[in-house]
Amino acid sequence: MSMAKQQLLEKVNELKARRNAVILAHNYQIEEVQDAADYIGDSFGLSRIAAETTADVIVFCGVHFMAEGAALLAPDKIVLLPEIMAGCPMADMVTVEALREKKKQHPGATVVTYVNSSAAVKAESDICVTSANAVKVVNALVCEELLFVPDKNLASFVADRTDKKVIAWEGYCVTHHRVSLHDVRMAREAHPDAVIVVHPECRPEVVKASDHAFSTGGILQFARETQHRKLIIGTEMGIMYRLRQENPDKEFFLLSQGLICPNMKYTTLEKVVRALETLQPQITVPDNVREGARRALLRMLEIA
Ligand code: 13P
Ligand code: SF4
Repeated sequence: MSMAKQQLLEKVNELKARRNAVILAHNYQIEEVQDAADYIGDSFGLSRIAAETTADVIVFCGVHFMAEGAALLAPDKIVLLPEIMAGCPMADMVTVEALREKKKQHPGATVVTYVNSSAAVKAESDICVTSANAVKVVNALVCEELLFVPDKNLASFVADRTDKKVIAWEGYCVTHHRVSLHDVRMAREAHPDAVIVVHPECRPEVVKASDHAFSTGGILQFARETQHRKLIIGTEMGIMYRLRQENPDKEFFLLSQGLICPNMKYTTLEKVVRALETLQPQITVPDNVREGARRALLRMLEIA
């Protein structure tokens, strides 16, 4: 690490102690931000830590819906998102108005909402899921039909693993949806002895042609436990840093060079320092949606 980065890291640690802050970083964050984090994880793991932390300030290095989720689960804490422009294009593919219309068309359906969504959309939902727990949560629901919002690829992944009728919203992750069956075939050809592990946000045909599909936390766990020595990874490239750090004896290849989420790259150490100095930008949840959104998240945590 360069001298400048080392100094920034020291500054982060000093401010963190002064503010009684905890730094949470998603697995897709850039390397220096992961190095500064107290916890690195997937959406589910980080939301549990946010719900339980005793810190006064949560610095969420991720995207907006993740920080908003932390604000819902830790209502008495200050939640900071170092780069306010870090959003999730998939979360923006569903609005409250459109969801209300869809609910009218399917009045009997339970609304299951991926955490990659706004608090307002969560408040319109019966329960939330993350990719780590979606199958478990859906199978635990007492219902026959569900409306799955907003990721059609995760909806398809769940539909294949449950007896329930799944009505999928037409949303998707622009980063994972870009991966094609051709990418899987090329990777198999290039590395016939490797195991292919993808995120369930990939297209159904990509998931089916791969060997396993897990959340980012699940991919990291699989990599630690597997006997395979070569792994092809079908999720955002930021995960490669930790995969290689934790498994120096294994080889990792990215399934497609297009696997980059620009929003996850906006956060830098400089922005973390500024957030801790100014206690801005703070993420708060509008009063009218807070209770409904929190209920949907807590129902998920109870089951998962
Ligand atoms: P995970 O919950 O698996 O970390 O995924 C979050 C996400 O945004 C995937 O694109
Ligand atoms: Fe959203 Fe996809 Fe980026 Fe995850 S990788 S934050 S789902 S755009």
